[in-house]
Amino acid sequence: MIKYDSNAGTFFLAGDTYSYSFRLYEGKCESVHFGAASDGVPFSLRKYTYRNFSPMIEDKRGSRSFGDMPLEYSEYGRGDYRTPAVQIEGDGFASTDYRFSGCEILSSHPQAGGLPVFRGGETLRVDFYDAVSDSSLKLYYTVYPSGLVRRAEISAGGKPFTVRRLASFCLDLNGCYEMTALVGGHGNERRRRTWKVDTGKSVLESNRGTSSHQCNPFTALAEKDAGEEHGRVYGASLVYSGSFRIEAEVDQLHNTRLIAGYNPDDFSYPLAKGETLSSPEALIVFSDSGYGGMSRAFADTIRDYLIPEKYVYASRPIVINNWESTYFNFDEEILCGMLDKLKGLGVDMFVLDDGWFGHRDDDHSSLGDWFIYSKKLRGGLAGIIKKARECGMRFGLWFEPEMVNSDSRLYREHPDWCIHTEGRTPLTGRYQLVLDFSRPEVVDNIFSQMEKILSSYDISYIKWDMNRHLTDMPDFVTQHKFMLGVYDLARRIVARFPDLFMEGCSGGGGRYDLGMMAFFPQIWCSDNTDAQARCLIQYGSSFPYPLSVSSNHVSICPNHYSGRTVPFATRGEVAMLGAFGYELNPYQLSAEEHASIQSQTEQYRRMEHLVLKGDLYRLSNPEENGIFCMELAAKDKSEARITFVQFAMQPDPTPFRIYPRGLDADAVYTVCGDVTDNEQFTGRTLMNAGMDFPEVWRDNEAHIITINKATHGTKKRV
Ligand code: GLA
Repeated sequence: MIKYDSNAGTFFLAGDTYSYSFRLYEGKCESVHFGAASDGVPFSLRKYTYRNFSPMIEDKRGSRSFGDMPLEYSEYGRGDYRTPAVQIEGDGFASTDYRFSGCEILSSHPQAGGLPVFRGGETLRVDFYDAVSDSSLKLYYTVYPSGLVRRAEISAGGKPFTVRRLASFCLDLNGCYEMTALVGGHGNERRRRTWKVDTGKSVLESNRGTSSHQCNPFTALAEKDAGEEHGRVYGASLVYSGSFRIEAEVDQLHNTRLIAGYNPDDFSYPLAKGETLSSPEALIVFSDSGYGGMSRAFADTIRDYLIPEKYVYASRPIVINNWESTYFNFDEEILCGMLDKLKGLGVDMFVLDDGWFGHRDDDHSSLGDWFIYSKKLRGGLAGIIKKARECGMRFGLWFEPEMVNSDSRLYREHPDWCIHTEGRTPLTGRYQLVLDFSRPEVVDNIFSQMEKILSSYDISYIKWDMNRHLTDMPDFVTQHKFMLGVYDLARRIVARFPDLFMEGCSGGGGRYDLGMMAFFPQIWCSDNTDAQARCLIQYGSSFPYPLSVSSNHVSICPNHYSGRTVPFATRGEVAMLGAFGYELNPYQLSAEEHASIQSQTEQYRRMEHLVLKGDLYRLSNPEENGIFCMELAAKDKSEARITFVQFAMQPDPTPFRIYPRGLDADAVYTVCGDVTDNEQFTGRTLMNAGMDFPEVWRDNEAHIITINKATHGTKKRV
């Protein structure tokens, strides 16, 4: 719901789980409330005192300064010394003073100049104008039941200028918070870190030209001592896959400003007369039921309004990918042998990974040459696709569209198509260069090559990879335009092949963000397929992102990344908490392991609806105690499934007690699994009395508990 009261100058926005309000004051939008539901815009309940050393709107006692006012969008150079959301520089001006000039409630979701956007919702646009720079600023707010999407747009009027900063939002919050970030590196993505921000600034950022493995474009600000299911928590996640910065700043009053948008270190964008630039959208949510409530608000909004509509709740293909079993060393015979071994086991998509194109025998050549390597695949892809079909599987193919090796036909024909600075040899990463996707002719070329392959063969799935970060920028514009080129190519592929299923990837989960999720219903979560490491990575990833996005595969042990051996059953259970698949050579499995593929695929199909549509409850923090425990509960409270993995066996342990969530207190449930044998309890008993896990005898042993609403019969009811 959106209400604008022009007499009072107030704006009131409300979803099911939050309300958000601000009011006009001296032409600015002053924030009043973002949090649990309120019934109006209570600005008279806010109090301010005179501040020395704060330039005044009217320089007299009792008047106000922009320097400590909670603002909807902060500016540079007019007395607000905190972080600006917008900063521009033109001939004779370096400050702005945007004043309210109107607003409109829009009937459809506005586009954002080629950037990915959410769909649906009710949108408010608030307009501002600055006379000196002759520029206009628009703030967009789209209301969804459990989240709010914000964005800003700036346009030059009669004078050109350079945009140095353009944030998606500014959120001025009362008090100090604990900040959560998802940080790490390749094979160690999105590890949760939380710390207190009560002084200065905390900055989360990527300047790598991608959202990166190192720091995800998400943050949470939680009140002190908030936990998984209690306390007030704010979450924010950017719909952008390039360099970004998120800043939490504590001011002189011990209030916190949160700003997120383009990374100003990597960004300086000239606008000519009449031109417009949009910030990315950002999804912000509020929870008064802890981090768990925040994650569920994120998941519901992302699933219902961002992930490609067609696939949100659609059953996902169970994939077998050849990468970890063959790497570059395969031919048709080897692949067909793998397919034979998988026949009838419930796997339904064979994905041929890197090495099928150009003359690629290793990672030194052929990126950019998207035609078949006939030495490995003599009859093209037809033979292997036919074989996959005979074995009951569809076929998928790997691409890395944004890259080129210098040893390629494409590079020899167009050596200037890679991102570079004139006069300097560009750096390589994994022996490859980055194509300059800011140039439409480069995107056109890659689109035509991909289109040719995809229209010549029966291909149902692609894995879109990106295996290095950007360097050697010629200016501060190319990086953002590169990102727009990537989105453009993804959009064109989707439009041309609407039935193609696309999985995102960037050296594992290096581009695991809402920008990608607008095109890719699932993303390869990490190159690290070790189930214990994955527990930590998937735990962190679940804070802002729905489990259904996380592509997880059972791989061979000892694990190629960690050297660790984890029970086959645990590898399956951990991989099932997402889009499930395999990445192994079935010839290397024991007979018992091989046979369990079928029971795993059947099990996954029985629980998949919980992954796609259920509510997630994290029952343990494995970063603290080495115990991974996630519950998925059906929204109608009819069932729940709990996965428990303890990393290390403990001698003489204290039993680990969990309190299931998301059940109907009055209903009777049958509990099965290692804690009890088919007994019945009420939801109230289960949630309030909890249950203990038995002693674990082996490192990384997985235990599963299923909780189903009883339809008949009782063995014992408590
Ligand atoms: C990246 C991906 C892997 C695999 C290789 C192929 O590292 O994350 O899954 O596709 O590239 O080169």
